[in-house]
Amino acid sequence: MPITKQRQLDKIKQTIIDNNVTPKLKSTATNLVFGEGNPDSQIVFIGEAPGKNEDLTGQPFVGAAGKLLNQMLELIHLSREDIYITNIVKYRPPNNRDPLTQEKAEFLPYLKAQLAVIQPKLIITLGRHSLSCFLPDLQISNCHGQPKRYKGQVYLPLFHPAAALYNGAMKQTLIDDFMNIPIILSKIA
Ligand code: URA
Repeated sequence: MPITKQRQLDKIKQTIIDNNVTPKLKSTATNLVFGEGNPDSQIVFIGEAPGKNEDLTGQPFVGAAGKLLNQMLELIHLSREDIYITNIVKYRPPNNRDPLTQEKAEFLPYLKAQLAVIQPKLIITLGRHSLSCFLPDLQISNCHGQPKRYKGQVYLPLFHPAAALYNGAMKQTLIDDFMNIPIILSKIA
């Protein structure tokens, strides 16, 4: 019997634990926030790092930014069960500070392994940290909402929902960009 995508993802999660990735972050975190959703999805969302609620539950995007994300998914008739969602850094940075370059680099091979299992048509990066892991030459303010093909993979850079929470103009831009996801997806061969 072929090993399921979920089993393969579970193994990657275990490898992060076994390899003691970012031991310093691990020491202050409550849970590893690996990622969740549909491993057969055509879309993977990639955020930055877990916040307080994510650290406590072990689930990505369950706080205020996650609620906004859920509302935007509803607008395009998708639910969290239809997509897969994860972060670059999988332990909460203390006091929600920005993830360090070294921390992002340490987690990148595991994120790439997750993507290799899921093989999404579209990778949606949320915020500049996520964008810079894949398309480091691009600026989020210039390229948000525009699909980019790089080495055979299509990416859609979006603003981070947490940044849009208290900025009405950015929130509207994020919603407008979100509404284009179905058409962008339909155009990917
Ligand atoms: N912000 C992120 O980037 N990831 C989460 O999981 C929650 C908030």
